[in-house]
Amino acid sequence: MSDELVLDVRNLAVTIDTPDGVVNPVRGIDLQVHRGEIVGIMGESGCGKSTTVKGILRLLGPNSHVTADTINLVGKADLAHASKKVMESIRGRHIGFVAQNPFGSLNPIYSIERQFYEVQKAHKTGAKKAESREIALSMLKGVGIVAPERVLSGYAHQLSGGMAQRVVIALATTLGPELLFADEPTTGLDATVQAQILDLISGLVRTENRSMVLVTHDLGVIAQYCQRAVVMYQGEIVESGDVMQVMVNPQHEYTKKLIGSVPKAEGRLNVAR
Ligand SMILES: Nc1ncnc2c1ncn2[C@@H]1O[C@H](COP(=O)(O)OP(=O)(O)OP(=O)(O)O)[C@@H](O)[C@H]1O
Ligand SMILES: [Mg+2]
Repeated sequence: MSDELVLDVRNLAVTIDTPDGVVNPVRGIDLQVHRGEIVGIMGESGCGKSTTVKGILRLLGPNSHVTADTINLVGKADLAHASKKVMESIRGRHIGFVAQNPFGSLNPIYSIERQFYEVQKAHKTGAKKAESREIALSMLKGVGIVAPERVLSGYAHQLSGGMAQRVVIALATTLGPELLFADEPTTGLDATVQAQILDLISGLVRTENRSMVLVTHDLGVIAQYCQRAVVMYQGEIVESGDVMQVMVNPQHEYTKKLIGSVPKAEGRLNVAR
C-alpha cells in the first residue's frame, strides 16, 4: 500500500424520506482509501454499510439525499458535488461496483455480450461490437469462466449465482477502474466459490495496484483480505484502523462484542500482510 490517496470521504450523511418521516441511516462517515489497499467495512445487518457505499456512488433512490464535506475521488472529481452526467462517466470507468445481489445488476433482457457492449457505448470508448466481444471474452476468461463464448450468448437467468457474480465482476472491471466497491460480493455462495471470487478480486487489486472497498459481515474475510478495517454501528463509524490492530486489540465496546461473537472455527485470524 502507498500513501497515495485515491478516495477521501469526509462527513458523509444520508437522509431518506419515507412515508413515516425522514430517516438518517448514515451519519458523519469519514473514509480514506489509498492506492493498492483493500479497506473492509464491517458491522451488523442494517448498520448502514450498503447505504454508505451507494451514497458515495450516488446510487440511492430519488427520496434520498447525500451530503458530505467532500467525496474526493482524487484527481478526478468531488462526487459530493458532481452532476448526474459526471457521475455516470465515473461509475464504470474510474469506480467499479459489485453490488450485494449480482442478478440485480444484470439486465434480464440483454445477452451478456450486449451488456459488455453497453459498457463500451456508455463510456464512448469507440470499441465496435467485434472488439467489445474480444474484450468481453478475455475478461470472462480472466474471472475463471471456462466457456466464455457460451456465457456471452446467454442471459442472466441461465447463470448460477457464482457465475453471475463472476460476470458482474468482469463487467465492473472491464474498463479497468482504479477503485472497486464490492458489497458482500459472495453472500449466498458456497465456501469454495466464495474463496475463489475473493481471491480473484483481491488479486486484481494486488497485481494492478488498484484499490478496493470490501463490505462484508464475515470477520474472517476482513482478516484475510483487508489491510484496513472500518467498523460501523448504527449508522456511524465507531472504529477504524490497521486490520490487525482492530481484530486483535479492538478499542470500541461494539467491536469487542462483534469479534467476541465469532465462533472460534470461523475466527481464523490469518491476517493479510
Ligand atoms: N429506502 C429506504 N427507506 C427506509 N430506510 C432505509 C432505506 N434504505 C435503507 N434504509 C435503512 O437504513 C439502514 C441501513 O441499511 P443498509 O442496507 O445500509 O444496511 P447494511 O449494513 O448494508 O445491512 P446488510 O448487512 O443487511 O446488507 C437500515 O436500517 C435500513 O432499514
Ligand atoms: Mg448491505
